[in-house]
Amino acid sequence: MRQILVTSALPYANGHIHIGHLVEYMQTDIWVRFQKLRGRRCVYLCADDTHGTAIMIRARQEGIREEQLIAEMREAHMADFAGFQIAFDNYGSTNSPETRAMCEEIWASLRRAELVVEQEVVQLYDTAAGTFLADRFVKGSCPKCQSPNQYGDSCDRCGAHYSPADLIDPVSTLSGSKPELRKADHLFVHIEKLHDFLEDWTQHGEHLQPEVANYLAGHFLCEPLHDWDVSRPAPYFGFEIPDSPGNYWYVWFDAPIGYMGSTRQWCDRHGESFDDWWRSDQTEIHHFIGKDITYFHTLFWPAMLQTAGFRLPTKVHIHGFLTVNGEKMSKSKGTFIRASTYLEHLDPAYLRYYYASKLTARVDDIDLNFDELIAKVNADMVGNVVNLASRVAKFAEPTGLSSAYPDDDGLFAQAAADGQAIAEAYESGDYAKAIRWILAAGDRANQFIEHNAPWTLRKDPSQCERLRDVCTIGLNLFRQLVIYLSPVLPRLAEQAGELLHDPIACWDQSQRPLLGTPVGKFSHLMQRVDPQRIEAVVAASAQPAESPAAETLPMDSDAPLQAEPLSETIHFEQFAKVDLRVARVLQAEDVPGAQKLLRLTLSLGGDNHRNVFAGIKGVYQPENLIGRLVICAANLAPRKMKFGTSEGMIVAAGGGGGEIYLLSPDSGAKPGQRVH
Ligand code: MSP
Ligand code: ZN
Repeated sequence: MRQILVTSALPYANGHIHIGHLVEYMQTDIWVRFQKLRGRRCVYLCADDTHGTAIMIRARQEGIREEQLIAEMREAHMADFAGFQIAFDNYGSTNSPETRAMCEEIWASLRRAELVVEQEVVQLYDTAAGTFLADRFVKGSCPKCQSPNQYGDSCDRCGAHYSPADLIDPVSTLSGSKPELRKADHLFVHIEKLHDFLEDWTQHGEHLQPEVANYLAGHFLCEPLHDWDVSRPAPYFGFEIPDSPGNYWYVWFDAPIGYMGSTRQWCDRHGESFDDWWRSDQTEIHHFIGKDITYFHTLFWPAMLQTAGFRLPTKVHIHGFLTVNGEKMSKSKGTFIRASTYLEHLDPAYLRYYYASKLTARVDDIDLNFDELIAKVNADMVGNVVNLASRVAKFAEPTGLSSAYPDDDGLFAQAAADGQAIAEAYESGDYAKAIRWILAAGDRANQFIEHNAPWTLRKDPSQCERLRDVCTIGLNLFRQLVIYLSPVLPRLAEQAGELLHDPIACWDQSQRPLLGTPVGKFSHLMQRVDPQRIEAVVAASAQPAESPAAETLPMDSDAPLQAEPLSETIHFEQFAKVDLRVARVLQAEDVPGAQKLLRLTLSLGGDNHRNVFAGIKGVYQPENLIGRLVICAANLAPRKMKFGTSEGMIVAAGGGGGEIYLLSPDSGAKPGQRVH
């Protein structure tokens, strides 16, 4: 029996799951469900990727410990995955004792193999924030084309790649200060020593899609491999390297080892042996990842596994990126859609079906087009598959299914034989092809029903046997399709199982008709997509790009929260007198001569505009405020100030001493809405 370990890439704990991520988690979940349906022993593992600078910085900004931040994000991630019916066998964390132990083991092997070398690295250091700066925390002018406001690694104007130390007038986005160059010793893995092994592993044995193997051959393996920098000096959120105090493993060192940490947790819970999965040739290991992280999974990861004596991945399945309506997901266009926002409005089955219908074994990007999603779901799922059941189930409810399978012109046998091609398509990752086969069978079945018109038979009492037979055929052909679709649409499979009093649990159920069982009451298995709900998702997601203003806030994660005593008790009527409204910042500008003030033009919906002065200069950059939502006390009497009249106040949290956090509503709120 095949024994298969499957992983999806570990999502970063510094952000929420969005519809781009879901391409991967759905792709993997479908493959795993398919394997389980086929009777294989298959384990699906994942975890949160918790280490690194970004998480450390975010925790500091929020004034909480990293552990709290990652615990909260873990809850959110797991809820999103459950909502989309992504069913992991274990969901771990890279910040776990199991992952740490594996890191130590692999590290010791790298040391023993004399692959670890020390080299001096010059990096930008922010003296105000007390940390080295990762590339994305530095901005400055491009050394090549001089365009201002570019990140530390590459220029989005001219495309040049450079080192952050080459930026002209670099500024730390953490503190706004000018970083200095500092030296530190880093530890590197000398993977060039494994060049021949990697050449062989990537180019032979079908571990990679052909286009991926070619890419590696043409971009990396054609020259000596660069040493890989795997350590970061303190402060860093991660695991301290045991034999190099004050240095931490770089997040990408421990991230893939998180696959093992998660496996260990699953093994401990199920009394399984870890080595049976990671050291045995009897097991297959399949990683599913996006194309952006190819490098780590196809060069460094096999190199580490090989050095430490673990088995190598059977296959790394690489998918492309999601675009929406032909463009990159965009916050301002409302196409950067969080999983949770989608779930508030739409059935997860729509997206599972739609992605499945577009996924192939190639690395191509996939485009989400909402009109196409509506058309596909309505035509293929509601109009074809579900329609089949809805045309016959109610007529079969009084009688149940016939006890012998009637003549159906060979339709059941034909679709049973198609099962082979459908299974091969799933196995190879070509879900689009599997679905084409399934829909073709659905078309044939619907024609049969059309032709035999059960709605006419029903009117003729002498045809009641025939009616029962036609319904038995219709429901069996329906069930066959649902079995084939069940990796994609597990909920539909459950409902079909309930309808026919026979749970769907294995692929072979598609090969034999179901006979003599009662038929339950038919309820709608899937609704047509309501385009207004899609509009609602887009509207709820449309937000100005998240303000990086917070990055300029003072950071002192250890400062105690000052407990400010509560004000005296008031009655609800008094509270209700304050008319708080959601408002959008239309304009924001410095007020010359004012030390703390920015002038904001707010929209409270329609043409209702307000001029408001806010004491947030230096904390928020005006250009970062434009477009964002704030909360405005809207019925305050206007106040004349030296620089003009202020027609309201915006609401912010802060403990004094320059700390200011503007409040904003959750996604979906509209300017003008009252805050109750
Ligand atoms: N933490 C790393 C992975 C470590 S694996 C040892 C990471 N995390 S991520 O949250 O940025 O991405 C998780 C997965 O989602 C990656 O495989 C990534 O390619 C995929 N996707 C993220 N955005 C995506 C799209 N817009 N479209 C398709 N897949 C995307 O990378
Ligand atoms: Zn440039």
